[in-house]
Parts: sequence; structure tokens; C-alpha cells
Amino acid sequence: MMKWSSTLASLLPLTASWSLAEPCAPVPPDFSLTPAQPRGTRELPDPFVNVEGNRISKKSEWACRRSELAQLAQTYELGPIPGPPTSLDASVVNNNQLIITIRVDSKTTNFTANITYPTTGTRPYPGFIVIGGSPSIPIPANVARVNLPLDSLANFASSSRNIGRFFDLYGASHGAGTTAVGVWAVSRVIDAVSLAAKTGAVAIDPARLGVTGCSRNGRAALAAGGFDERVALTVVQETGAGADSCYRLRDDDKPRYDVCNSVECPGTDQGQARVFLDRFMNNPSGLPFDRHSVAALVAPRALLVLQDDLTFNQPRSSFQCMGATKKVYEALGVSERMAVSLRGGHELCKFPKEQQGLLDAYIGKFLLGEGGDVGETDVVEMNSSWLKPGDIRPAYSWRAPKLE
Ligand SMILES: *[C@@H]1O[C@H](CO)[C@@H](O)[C@H](O)[C@H]1NC(C)=O
Ligand SMILES: *[C@@H]1O[C@H](CO)[C@@H](O)[C@H](O)[C@H]1NC(C)=O
Ligand SMILES: *[C@@H]1O[C@H](CO)[C@@H](O)[C@H](O)[C@H]1NC(C)=O
Repeated sequence: MMKWSSTLASLLPLTASWSLAEPCAPVPPDFSLTPAQPRGTRELPDPFVNVEGNRISKKSEWACRRSELAQLAQTYELGPIPGPPTSLDASVVNNNQLIITIRVDSKTTNFTANITYPTTGTRPYPGFIVIGGSPSIPIPANVARVNLPLDSLANFASSSRNIGRFFDLYGASHGAGTTAVGVWAVSRVIDAVSLAAKTGAVAIDPARLGVTGCSRNGRAALAAGGFDERVALTVVQETGAGADSCYRLRDDDKPRYDVCNSVECPGTDQGQARVFLDRFMNNPSGLPFDRHSVAALVAPRALLVLQDDLTFNQPRSSFQCMGATKKVYEALGVSERMAVSLRGGHELCKFPKEQQGLLDAYIGKFLLGEGGDVGETDVVEMNSSWLKPGDIRPAYSWRAPKLE
């Protein structure tokens, strides 16, 4: 067994890249929109208006606005995401089992991220962190996979909130929902890959890492891509509520789907923190942001959102919500780094071949670093037997500024 150890203070990339640990300015804990939106308002808040009420006009202001949104998402929705631990060890057994040991004060836990190496390509390989373990997108043969067993860190079963190795470290009363634990866990996997890559024990290039997941694991993928700036490409597959659909738009999918017959009802959902479920589930217009802004945390890095037309994934709401996120990419002048593709006619997490070209273009451009024509990446498309472009309603009255 080979083993590398570090106190994180000595590992520059780990702390330097955790930009959200040092916010530009703390958001007041009781922050709310002014003027407040009346209950039931469908309008998505303008993501460019900061906490002080000013609309940003420069690209350089996005970093601080992003930090505000990251704080709001933690305070109101996800629960707190702990920063780097006291120490982290990475060891590799049987060539491809990456054992990540994490100490926080006097408590220690570990988990294993199994790596599947490419059959072609050159070391160090680009890689995908696959939340939940088995990928449901076709990952090319020249890209590595690092499996993240999120359930062992935070159990998603509704009867077992706050159970898992994350809570062994931080205590059962910690406020993180499972999406927040997913963010934390992806960051620890990147810490470990970065550490072990330095000695060649892991043949993965930490600068070319993607994150992916489907359904509830897709929620964690979207949030992890948003919070950890070391993620180069985020591929979010078929998530719906609590990820790529906006809370204020949830009634758009009625009558085919009523969100309150689902796991998203108060008290049951494990993705969000309890504070969210108690305060906002029945009053989303009381939230000082919505999901379009949380997805925008990924900007300006690459984001591919794959959607289906399964009613429980709230396709109308999701498509409109991600359209609002795309405005942030447009404003930053990087429209080609975000695509939204809704394809119906398949079961949950069964990747349809029609999305292959778009996925290949994203992987080619943002993970493999291929020059030349790898395909169109500035895409917003919908193909469903029952959902038509005319079913999509405007969800906001603001326009994307042209940030200088
Ligand atoms: C991981 O933790 C388990 C206890 O949960 C322990 O038995 C095992 O030895 C640890 N593995 C390593 C490599 O530290
Ligand atoms: C990692 O791979 C080993 C060997 O195939 C297997 O026994 C173990 O269950 C895997 N661990 C996880 C977390 O998937
Ligand atoms: C939707 O996809 C099907 C199957 O790929 C294709 O035949 C059809 O032309 C597409 N429709 C639109 C409007 O793009």
C-alpha cells in the first residue's frame, strides 16, 4: 500500500481553490429580497442584483456575486458545507482503490473511491467523478472514472437523515443535507486525487476533472460543480426538483405533476437542509434566490444539463430554470460553455443516443482539451412528444446585462 499524507495548509491548491471559504463580504443572516415578492410570485429573481441591491456591470464583479449566491444557497437551502478538514490522507490499494482518510479535530473516517482507468489515451488521464458509483452517461474509453459512494457518507433514505460517515465526523446534528454532503465529498475526492497525482500513484490529471450524476446524484453533481472551482466540467443528468428546476416555477408542471405528492414535500426530502423544508417549501417566493442562481455558481466553467420529459422531473420548470442560468453565461461572454438539452422518450438515467454528439463535444472541448471542431456546445434544445416550445413560458422580466 502506498500512502501520502498532508496537512492541508501545506497543500496550496486545496486551500487556494476553495474560494468560497473566503467570501467577498458576508451576507447578513436575515437577508431577504427588497421589495419582498408576494407569495406565489413566479418571477425568478435577477441573478445580477447583489445583496446591496446594485446590478453588477463588470465580469470582475461576478466572483463576489457568486460568493453571495453560494452563501445564500447554504443558509437557506443546502445547509453548511464544511471547508477543508484538519488533514487528509490518500492511499492506493490494488492499483485502483483510492482510500481517502479524513480527520476533523479528533475524529477520523475514510471512504474508498474506486478508479476505473482508461483503456486508451495517455497518462495522466482526464477523469469524471461519478457520484453514486455507476455512471449513466457513456464515458469515453480515454477518460478515467472515480466512483464516489455518496450513500455511505450521507444516507438518503428518508428515515435515516444525518446518518453516514460525514456525520461521524461532523456530528449527527450537523445541518448539511445530502446535496451539501455531496459537495463536500467531491472536494475531498479532488483533494485526494491532487495529492496522489503528485507522486503518480493516481494517473489522473486534477486539472481535467469532471463531475457527473443522475437524478438525486445529479443534484449533488450540479452543486459540487458550482462550489468547487477545481471542477472543469459539470454534467448534470435528469435531476428536476432541488437541482435544475426552480422552486418558483414548480406549478408549471401541473396538472401532470403535483410536487406535493412527491418526496419534495416538507419534512421528507434529504437533499435540502431542514431549515429549507421548514421555512420555504410552501413559500418559495420567500427565498432570496432560486435554483437558476445556484446552477450559475458553475459559471464561467463548463456546464452541460441533460434533461428528460418525465413528469416527476418537472421538465417545464427545469427547462425554463436552466434557460435563466444560461443568461449568466451569456452575460459573462461564455455562452458556449453551457448547454441545455431536453430529450424525451426514455426511462430515467437511460442516456438517449441523440444526446451523444453534445456530450462528446463537451468532453472533447472541456476535458480532453481537443482543439479544432469538436461540435457545437452553445445549445438549448428540446425534443419531446408532448412538451412543445409553446409550453415554455417566460420566467423572468430582467435581461442579461453585457458585462464588461
Ligand atoms: C477505514 O475505517 C474503518 C472503520 O470504519 C477501519 O476499519 C479501516 O481500517 C479504515 N481503513 C483505513 C485504510 O484506514
Ligand atoms: C471497490 O472495489 C472493490 C473491489 O472490486 C469492491 O470490493 C468494493 O466494494 C468497491 N468499493 C466501492 C465503494 O464501490
Ligand atoms: C426529435 O427527435 C426525433 C428522434 O431523434 C426526430 O426524428 C425528430 O425530428 C426530432 N424533432 C425535432 C422537432 O427536432
